[in-house]
Amino acid sequence: MTDLANVPAASTTAPGAAQEVTLVIFGASGDLTHRLLLPGLGTLLNSTGRFAVTVIGAAMDDVSDDAWKQLVRDALTEAKTKPARIEEIVARTRYVKIDVTDPQAIGPFVSTLPPNSVLYFALPPAVTIKACQALVGVTLPEGLRLGLEKPFGTSGSTAHDFNTLLAKLVPERQIFRIDHFLGKATVLNLLGLRFTNRIFEPVWNGENIESVAIVVDEVLALEGRAGYYDRNGALRDMIQSHLLLVMALFAMEEVASIDEREVRDLVAHTLRATSLWTGDPVTSSRRARYTAGHIGDREVPDYTAEDGVDPARNTETLAEVDLRVNNARWAGVKFTLRSGKALGDERNGITAIFKPVAHVPVGFKGEAPRNVLSIGIKPQTIALQLSTNGAGDKFDLEETVLSTDLDDSPLRPYGEILEFIFEGNPILSVRGDVAEECWRIVGPVLDAWASGAVPMSTYRAGWAGPTDWV
Ligand code: BG6
Repeated sequence: MTDLANVPAASTTAPGAAQEVTLVIFGASGDLTHRLLLPGLGTLLNSTGRFAVTVIGAAMDDVSDDAWKQLVRDALTEAKTKPARIEEIVARTRYVKIDVTDPQAIGPFVSTLPPNSVLYFALPPAVTIKACQALVGVTLPEGLRLGLEKPFGTSGSTAHDFNTLLAKLVPERQIFRIDHFLGKATVLNLLGLRFTNRIFEPVWNGENIESVAIVVDEVLALEGRAGYYDRNGALRDMIQSHLLLVMALFAMEEVASIDEREVRDLVAHTLRATSLWTGDPVTSSRRARYTAGHIGDREVPDYTAEDGVDPARNTETLAEVDLRVNNARWAGVKFTLRSGKALGDERNGITAIFKPVAHVPVGFKGEAPRNVLSIGIKPQTIALQLSTNGAGDKFDLEETVLSTDLDDSPLRPYGEILEFIFEGNPILSVRGDVAEECWRIVGPVLDAWASGAVPMSTYRAGWAGPTDWV
């Protein structure tokens, strides 16, 4: 692997001048572009003047330049981008109608882009793969970066094949497999919290921690995303794509520096040691799907009745897996990862439950509440539950919580991710071997579910959540 110094610097940048970046968005007319990517870019441009970005929207649809400029303007306005920056971007942006899977079209288009351009594939994975195949043999601009949306492959072997294909195009460090959770401030904060506080690292192990739960329960239901979601389901959409990475940042060994190679090596190291809790997918995983219900005053239809859902796919909307990290630090600690849609309550973060103290002094009444560290991903919070002497009876033990809200980052996760892509630093992207490891971990569960070995439970939309599961 090369080091940071070998990334070609943006050749058009004079000292002090903004770095020229060309960002090509393939799949520009899709939902991701205006809902996440452009607003993310807006927050980045608000926070820094370091980049002069030319956005090129590219897709198969007929979109006039004016309509495209309006879409860009609206998305940037939604993110409260400074008006001057909006006008700057809008003046430079253009739309290109292109079939990215056609080598005769994509080859000449990409080969004439300036050095260090970014190709962002906001496309279904099968189309992205075809587009990449169409680029093999094309003379690509120096320093070209590829941004790839999830899911990255559909299994360990397809991810491996995709990695092999990408390696024919550009070096690994110019490949940005996107996991926007890695752009979330509290997820990044795991590094600061763990490695810059004396009090945490000594207890960050199985000697002191009994279990860890990483849960993203959403009140959102399908939100018109059947085309994507019904082919993936909660396990692939959230656990394979995001929560395993969050777990790895929580559980990894101490990093010596915040360097992409160091951090990603240790993430890979942790995931390589990770496997199902019991070794058996039947006892280490659970799945369920929502039926019709209410969330607040919102009526939610049965998942299988949602537009575009094929009940024969038997897709889950809630998935949970129990894992272990087989190393000295985490021996015996259960890591439970869960995510579900259309639940009654939002829950979004990491909870570490500590073991009881070795001895509670005789004379205290009641059980000592456990120490529990909760790291909220959304909203961004940190809370530590302590056991204290009660306010009434002085020897009655009770629970006291120290908690704080962390400041909202001015950058949305996609802004954070884009900043690192523009800088050519892949620290926040999923390395090829890591993507394959994630598939290896969930592979036995996917197989067991496909064979029907794990029953599909149901839950009413708006249900408070499986508190007994975690
Ligand atoms: C996406 C998933 O990657 O992450 C969605 O496809 C999910 O299904 C979303 O709702 C959650 O992320 P965030 O940032 O909106 O909490």
